[in-house]
Amino acid sequence: MSDDGAIGEVLVTAEDLQRRVAELAAEVSRDYVDKDLLLIGVLKGAVFFLADLMRHLAIPVEVDFMAVASYGSATRSSGVVRILKDLDAAIEGRDVLIVEDIVDSGLTLQYLMRNLAGRNPASLEVCALLIKPERRKVDLQTRYVGFEIPDRFAIGYGLDLAERYRNLPYVAALRPGSTG
Ligand code: IMP
Ligand code: MG
Repeated sequence: MSDDGAIGEVLVTAEDLQRRVAELAAEVSRDYVDKDLLLIGVLKGAVFFLADLMRHLAIPVEVDFMAVASYGSATRSSGVVRILKDLDAAIEGRDVLIVEDIVDSGLTLQYLMRNLAGRNPASLEVCALLIKPERRKVDLQTRYVGFEIPDRFAIGYGLDLAERYRNLPYVAALRPGSTG
């Protein structure tokens, strides 16, 4: 993809992403052996991470997707979440692992976890590729984390700015002053 000037410093290289995704998959494969694992991908950002993660899993697994929109500005979420697409199937009694691209304030995930917990899964955990510890507003258990990144707006490997840059094979910071 050609650099249009918005792509700033690389935060996580493509090589580090692939290595860490394989490590996370090995951990998940160990922890969920003999379980009934269902991955829930949060559209659209988690698709890239989820597809790579799944390919490395050594255990039986199913996948489903949800799409949510949080009210608020483009770069700040409010915690008020609307479900745009719900799961295809019930999760009662399933071992559910939510796969997220990034946990920023945590408000979106907090809403999602409360919503899904109400459907009585056997277990409910989170696998987030990226977290921004400095921005966390709510206390959340993120059992699997790929990388901690600084408080910068990130793009690439699923992360978008106004729907663009998801296809970058690495994670970069948005160049300061860029609006896409
Ligand atoms: P939260 O509710 O503040 O945790 O925000 C969660 C959602 O905001 C993520 O799932 C992303 O869709 C989006 N988001 C948060 N930070 C970034 C970022 O740095 N780049 C792109 N999207 C982001
Ligand atoms: Mg997201």
